[in-house]
Amino acid sequence: MKDYKRLIDPNRVAAHVAIIMDGNGRWAEKRSLPRLEGHRRGAEVIDSLMDVAVDLGLQVVTLYTFSTENWLRPKAEVDGLWEITESFIISKKEKIKQNDLRIIFSGIKNGLPASTLRIIEELIEETKNNKKMTINFCVNYGGRQEIVDSVNQWIQHRKLNESLTIDKLNKYLYTSELPDVDLMIRTGGEYRISNFLLWQLAYTEFVFLKVLWPDFKPNHLYKAIYEYQNRDRRFGGL
Ligand code: IPE
Ligand code: IPE
Ligand code: MG
Repeated sequence: MKDYKRLIDPNRVAAHVAIIMDGNGRWAEKRSLPRLEGHRRGAEVIDSLMDVAVDLGLQVVTLYTFSTENWLRPKAEVDGLWEITESFIISKKEKIKQNDLRIIFSGIKNGLPASTLRIIEELIEETKNNKKMTINFCVNYGGRQEIVDSVNQWIQHRKLNESLTIDKLNKYLYTSELPDVDLMIRTGGEYRISNFLLWQLAYTEFVFLKVLWPDFKPNHLYKAIYEYQNRDRRFGGL
């Protein structure tokens, strides 16, 4: 693969990049390893991605780590995913803090193991004033659920006879404070959204990569950003 880093215009990198990190299971199966080994390798890739994203000057990176549909998997895989989430946070926390990264989470807290939830909430609290870059982990996240939750939130605050508008719904999304998603990358070779950011992706540029997430290298991110920079974003205009 070409070296894409030198082809990127450093002044036009996307502000907000969202990634569906797919392919961990297939990566492991190809090597006759347990699927959880693929998830472990996948978590390490997140660690190196954080450095590259800071280096590029991205403002926000949103990472899909567990969907509301992933509960359909065998219990052993789901339990293993929570263990990996916990040990990832525990082992990377100091580095995250030193690098001035702010961590936020989008998704439904209900249903997460109590220990995982506590570790997540501590990480959010301890990084909330950090400024360099925001990482938004989508955990137990579903795009349809987010829209329903937002509408329900709005109903609770609704004034008599008030109608819902796009701006009002925006205000109640999990990610209301984040800029629009400029670029969505899905690894693993599938061409679908899998219930990710349904509302926020309205005008996002999509890049689908064949690479399985544990094999994702900085050059894949550079390639995706290079492609993004060569798109003509019209937003319905001319
Ligand atoms: C993505 O990898 C991670 C999660 C959904 C938790 P997968 O586990 O979906 O990997 P494949 O798609 O089976 O290869
Ligand atoms: C999407 O991947 C969810 C995450 C990467 C966390 P899936 O592997 O769950 O999606 P499908 O089942 O292929 O649509
Ligand atoms: Mg998958």
